Amino acid sequence: MNIMMVSSETVPFSKSGGLADVVGALSKELANLGNTVSVFMPLYGSIDASSFSEYARLRLPMLGKTETVRVMRHQLDGVSYLALSHPLFTGRKGIYGDTSFAPYPDNLYRFCLMCKAAVEIARRDKVEILHAHDWTAGPAVYLAKEAGLRCRTVMTIHNLAYMGDFPRLDALRAAIRPSGRMLSGSGLMRRVNFLKTGLEYADRITTVSPSYAKEIQEPEQGCGIDWLLRQKAGILSGVINGIDTDEWDPEKDAFTSAHFSSKDLGGKARAKAEIQRQFGLDEDPDIPLVAMISRLAEQKGFGPMLEGGQCTLERLLEGGRCQFIVIGTGDGRYEEKLRQIASRHRNISVNIVFSQALSHVVEAGSDFFLMPSKYEPCGLNQMYSLRYGTLPIAHRTGGLKDTITDLGEDPEHGDGFLFDNVYCDEIIQTVNRALDFYRDKDALHRARVNAMACDFSWKKSAQTYESIYKNALGGNQT
Ligand code: GLC
Repeated sequence: MNIMMVSSETVPFSKSGGLADVVGALSKELANLGNTVSVFMPLYGSIDASSFSEYARLRLPMLGKTETVRVMRHQLDGVSYLALSHPLFTGRKGIYGDTSFAPYPDNLYRFCLMCKAAVEIARRDKVEILHAHDWTAGPAVYLAKEAGLRCRTVMTIHNLAYMGDFPRLDALRAAIRPSGRMLSGSGLMRRVNFLKTGLEYADRITTVSPSYAKEIQEPEQGCGIDWLLRQKAGILSGVINGIDTDEWDPEKDAFTSAHFSSKDLGGKARAKAEIQRQFGLDEDPDIPLVAMISRLAEQKGFGPMLEGGQCTLERLLEGGRCQFIVIGTGDGRYEEKLRQIASRHRNISVNIVFSQALSHVVEAGSDFFLMPSKYEPCGLNQMYSLRYGTLPIAHRTGGLKDTITDLGEDPEHGDGFLFDNVYCDEIIQTVNRALDFYRDKDALHRARVNAMACDFSWKKSAQTYESIYKNALGGNQT
C-alpha cells in the first residue's frame, strides 16, 4: 500500500510529545512490512535541512493570494520524509508556539498550508491511504475529499482535548469555506474545529488504546463531541501504541552502563545505586524509589498531587518510607511548588528539565513509576517502565488500564498497581500498597519478571493499522 502520514511532528525531526514517537515508529514499521510510506510534515527552523533535497514546488491558493512552497525530501529507514518549506515554519523554532503556553496566532493558516500541500502531493503520488494525526492534520482529510482524491482517509486521535478551534472567519483566509460539519460549539460561539473536521470526513477513525476509544464516546471525556464519536462507533477503533524496543532496552540502553535482563536483575540494583548518588539521595537499596517523569500538566494529575496545604506528595514523603525523583517541565505553578517541596524534604530530587538521557537512567534505576493522569489516551512511560521492571502505579484509565495488570487482582500475572479515582487518598493508599509490596522480595521479583515479559513492540500494532487500511480500501467511502 502507498501510505502518507500527515503530522505536525515526528521523530527524529521534531517532537513535543508522544505523537512524534508514534508517527516515527509506526511509519518505520509499516515500511518494514513492505509498504510505501511517506510522512508529510513542516520543515521547522529547528530541523537541520542539509540532508533534504527538493522534491516538488507547489502553488497553493489561499485567500487573495497564491503561496509558492517547496517540498523537501529525506529518505530514512525506508520512509520518505516530505517537509514543507515555508517561512511560517522555517522562520520559527517552535512547533505550535515559542512556548507551550503561547500558540502562534496564525496556526490555522500555518496548518492549513501544511494540509493543502500534503493533499496535493498525495494526489501526485497516487497515495492510497492518507493517515492524519491529531488536530493539525484534520483539514487534510476534508481537503482530500473535496479535491476528489481516490485515496481513503484515516484520522487518529492522540488526545481528544486538543481540538484546534479557531474563529470561523479565520478559515476564509485559508480559502476554506467552513461547512457546518467543521464547526463545534453553539450559536455565536460556533468555531471551526480542526479535529472534528477530520473526524467528520474520515473513512476510518482510530485512537491509541481500546479503553480510550470507549471513554471518548461518553460525555465525561468526550470533549463535547462524544455524540459524534458514538455516531461513528462503527468505524472507530482503539489500537495500542508500541514503543521503540531498541531505544528502550535494559540489556543495551545507551544511556547507562548498568544493564540487566529479567534473568539477571543485578544491573537494576546497580542502576538504582547510581541514580541515588547522581540525584543526591541516600544510597540505600532497601528504601523504595518512586519516579515521575512527565509534562507538569493538569492532565498528568499534578493538581491532586500538589494542590493544598499539606499536599499528597508531601504526605507521601513524610515518614521517609520512600524516595522520589521527579523530572519534567511545564506549568510554572507546579514547577514552583515542586521546588518548594524539594527544599523541605531530603528524600526527593526535583529536576525541572526535559531530558531523554535522564529519563533512561531513572527508568532503569527506579522501583516504581507513578502516573496519576486524569486521563491517558495511551501513555508511553508505563510501557517503558514495565520493560525496565519498574512497576507502574497508575490511574485505571485509557491506555494505562489496557497495559497494566493490577497485582492485587492477579498476584500471579500482575505487574503494577491501579487506582480507580485520582483522589488524594486513593493515590496515597495505592502508593502505600506498592511500598508494602516492596518488602516481599519474592513477589517483587515475580512482578518484575512479568513486567519485563510484556511485548510492546510495534509489529503487532502496525499490522493492525495495515488491516484497518485494507478494510478502508475495500469498504465504502464515507
Ligand atoms: C498523546 C497522549 C498520550 C499518547 C500519545 C501518543 O500525547 O496524551 O497518551 O501516548 O499521544 O499516541
